[in-house]
Amino acid sequence: MIEADLVVVGISELATPQGSSPRLGPQLGRLHVLQSAAIACDGERIVFVGTEQELAQRVQLRPGGARVDGAGGTALPGFVDAHTHLPFAGWRDDEFIERLGGASYSEIAARGGGILRTVSQTRAASEEQLAQAVQTRLRQLLALGTTTVEAKSGYGLTLADELKQLRALRSAAGPRTPEIVPTFLGAHTVPAEYRGRREAYIRLLIDEALPRVAEERLAEYADAFVDAQAFSAGEARQVLQAAKGLGLGLRLHADQLADDGAAQLAAELGAASADHLEHVSQPGIEALARAGTAAVLLPAAAFFLKAEQRAPARSLIQAGVPLVVATDFNPGTAPLESMGAALGLACLTAGLSVDEAITAGTLNAACALGRGSDVGTIEPGKRADFVIHRIPNRNHLVYRFGVPRIGQVFARGQLAYAC
Ligand code: NIG
Ligand code: FE
Repeated sequence: MIEADLVVVGISELATPQGSSPRLGPQLGRLHVLQSAAIACDGERIVFVGTEQELAQRVQLRPGGARVDGAGGTALPGFVDAHTHLPFAGWRDDEFIERLGGASYSEIAARGGGILRTVSQTRAASEEQLAQAVQTRLRQLLALGTTTVEAKSGYGLTLADELKQLRALRSAAGPRTPEIVPTFLGAHTVPAEYRGRREAYIRLLIDEALPRVAEERLAEYADAFVDAQAFSAGEARQVLQAAKGLGLGLRLHADQLADDGAAQLAAELGAASADHLEHVSQPGIEALARAGTAAVLLPAAAFFLKAEQRAPARSLIQAGVPLVVATDFNPGTAPLESMGAALGLACLTAGLSVDEAITAGTLNAACALGRGSDVGTIEPGKRADFVIHRIPNRNHLVYRFGVPRIGQVFARGQLAYAC
């Protein structure tokens, strides 16, 4: 008999990708689906997945163990959000209103709005204030079914303020929060005080900031924003090569507003992911496929920017690029922390099927964060991070778009949120 300290029954449908490597091409939409399912956990790990009948034959609940009723809901792996800008202060709803009136994101950025506005507000916040904000957001994320979240700095843009953002992430994380995967995004944009001497800012990143971040182990990845308003591909290459030399993994904001050849750069550097990709070229897609670099689609950002061009999801899938969908949660382009909504937008605006979107927001996202063998599927041996959605089957996740219907969230084998 398998011993368990938690069993979850009353699951009308359980749907999960399987394995610990990214699902590619036609495999992206292949889920393992069970009806009348049950899950058993022991400590932090899943020890059994099967039907209720099999559970009765094979699993024994330890004395004092818990039996939870899924009330006819649908079990999916906890969402893995592979791209957020979590530690920021202040909102930019006024810019959103301007954009509704016709102003463009680039125009607003060119006159000192955009990222630089959030930089001023984040610099003015203390580490404790930022940690508080992050903690509140982590609770919201958990209530929306996200159990692992990547989080970027990039609104400090001084050594002290970037370190402050990363330390706030570290102090906000706890045993009852989603796991945080921290990324250093000092190369988000050139701060105002370095205007006209951008090489000096790049030297600061390479000579001072990156070595400190690596030494204090404050980030697992480094990221850069390649854009006319931010850094050229050549500048990003310098920063990311230095990061790689220090043992950090790489990610890249690539080809969001124009084809900057950034997907090719991500592939050349062996980055874990190239993110956005609304304007990626066919050679860029092929380079990603050859390098095995994941494409992280951020359909909420394109949606909120009212962008005409969507990332070419079908071409990326067809080329065999590992496809991921994330929120891009940030106060400018994507003030939306719901992975359910991001997956819905991926289906409704970028042409994914529901089952493809589920894999892209769980297993493939976990792999892009170096956690494919630990999370992203509901299988014995994986960490017990899964969610019971109050829907009769997985189609309702997208079909009834826009409203979260979360019943219970289990994180590390514990009931972490119930509604
Ligand atoms: O991923 N593109 C650059 N960075 C963010 C936006 C940040 C902001 O506007 O504050 C993004 O969309
Ligand atoms: Fe982003």
